[in-house]
Amino acid sequence: MSKLPDSLNSLLSELERFGEENDHGDTPRGSKMLNITRDTGEFLAALIRATGTRSILEVGASNGYSTLWLAFATQPLGGHITTLERSAAKVAMARQNYERAGLQGLITLMEGDAGEFLSNADSGSADLIFLDSNRADYLAWWPHLKRILRPGGTVVVDNATSHPEEVAGFVAVVNADEAFTTALVPVGKGEFVAVKAL
Ligand SMILES: C[S@@+](CC[C@H](N)C(=O)[O-])C[C@H]1O[C@@H](n2cnc3c(N)ncnc32)[C@H](O)[C@@H]1O
Repeated sequence: MSKLPDSLNSLLSELERFGEENDHGDTPRGSKMLNITRDTGEFLAALIRATGTRSILEVGASNGYSTLWLAFATQPLGGHITTLERSAAKVAMARQNYERAGLQGLITLMEGDAGEFLSNADSGSADLIFLDSNRADYLAWWPHLKRILRPGGTVVVDNATSHPEEVAGFVAVVNADEAFTTALVPVGKGEFVAVKAL
């Protein structure tokens, strides 16, 4: 991925350094940024460009690092991201980072619990759902995620190889679903990809 504008590349590098320093040691889990890796950002951007993805739902924004990759990728396609985050402190940081990148116009950041949002979201409204929040919730959310995803749409789940036991139940259910074609992509912390049939 070599087409990042210099200003966005600098901001992403700054956030990577911040995340590494902040998350190091005995920082309480709720205060960690837990950002995706840069190569995961590159993978998501390539996937978005390859599939012409315009309507993106992200679950777990943290301070907005991953959202910036999603926004960078979909901006030339005229896309939009809705992203969910329940930590008020992280919402404030994410908003600031979206503005610093000049990408705030294509991002809707919803503060609150993702479960409530997902149960009310429109059917078929997302081309891509990126799941990067509390992994214990994914299985219960699956009926909503499946409904929200449009035919031909893609779900990407982070941490599939870093925490395989925590996503095993979810992965097993999606793998067994005949409407989905799946793959485990060994990039970053492991991306489980599931594409809904047309
Ligand atoms: C791994 S971090 C997200 C990192 C982010 N995607 C990135 O790469 O920059 C997970 C985030 O999900 C949020 N989260 C966890 N459960 C949630 C829920 N039920 N609703 C909304 N946000 C949630 C946490 O507050 C945390 O900031």
